[in-house]
Amino acid sequence: MAPSRGPIGIFDSGVGGLTVVRRLLELCPGHPMVYFGDTARVPYGTKSPETIQRYAVENTEFLLQFEPSLIVVACNSVSALALDPVRETAGQIPVFGVIEPGAELAASLTKNKRVGVIGTSATVSSGAYDRAILARDPAIHVYSKACPLFVPFAEEGLFDHRATELIAKEYLHSLLVHDIDTLVLGCTHYPLLKEVIQKTVGHKVTIVDSGQAVAAQIHRHFGDSPSQDAVLPDIYVSDLPSRFQRTAELFLGMQLNEPKKASVSSEAVGDKKQKRS
Ligand code: DGL
Repeated sequence: MAPSRGPIGIFDSGVGGLTVVRRLLELCPGHPMVYFGDTARVPYGTKSPETIQRYAVENTEFLLQFEPSLIVVACNSVSALALDPVRETAGQIPVFGVIEPGAELAASLTKNKRVGVIGTSATVSSGAYDRAILARDPAIHVYSKACPLFVPFAEEGLFDHRATELIAKEYLHSLLVHDIDTLVLGCTHYPLLKEVIQKTVGHKVTIVDSGQAVAAQIHRHFGDSPSQDAVLPDIYVSDLPSRFQRTAELFLGMQLNEPKKASVSSEAVGDKKQKRS
C-alpha cells in the first residue's frame, strides 16, 4: 500500500525538532509538514515520565486533526519514555521515534566500540540509548552524560556563544576521558549547537545526529520522489510565536511563515470550559 499523502506531523518541546525538519527539507522537500513546538512547557527533559507521557499524548492528539501520513516524535525524551502511548493514540498512523535510528547509526559507525551519548536527564536516566546500542552490539561500551543546560541555550539561539563553549567543555570532559570515537546527540536540540560540540570533542570523534538518522528512515518510507521545490512547514507553538520564529529562522537559514499559537493541554481546555460556565 502506498503511503498516504497527508502532511508529516512532527512534534518536540520547542525548537529541537527543527533539526529533523531541516533534514526532511533536504530529503523530502516537496512533502508538506505540520510542526508543533510545545514552547509553553519546554523543557521536557527535566520532568517526570508521567508528565512527559501526558504531554506526548496531548501533542499527538493535536497533530491528528491534520490527518498526517505519519508522526515523527522529534524529541528523544518522548521517544525514550512515551513512544507506546504516542503509538496507541496515533492508531493506524505510523510513528517514528528518534532513539532507534540514532542507536543504529552509532553502532554502525564506532570503530573502537566506545560510544558517548548526551541527552536530557530524562533520556539519560531512562537508559534507552544504552539498551538500543547494546541490542545491536553487546561489545560496545556506552558512556552517557545529561547536559540539561544545552536546551535553553539552543532555545535562545546561542549557537556559538562563549558561554555555550564553557558549558560544553564542562559537560563533555567526562566523556572524552573514556576515549570515545562516536558521540550521539541524544536530544534534538543539540544539533543546533553542533559546531561548538564538535570543536570541544575534536574532529576525531564522529557526531551522530538522531534527527538526521530518522529523516533518512522517513525518506526510505516514502521511497524516491522526483526533486521538488521545498514546501515550508506549517508551524504551531504553545507560546511566544515570535521568539520561536527568530530562533527557527536563524537555524534553518530561511524565512518561515509566522508560527500560529495553539493550546494543546487538557488543563488549558479545562480552564476554557470553566471560564465559559
Ligand atoms: N528536544 C527534546 C529531546 O530531544 C527535549 C528537550 C527538552 O525539552 O528538555 O529530548
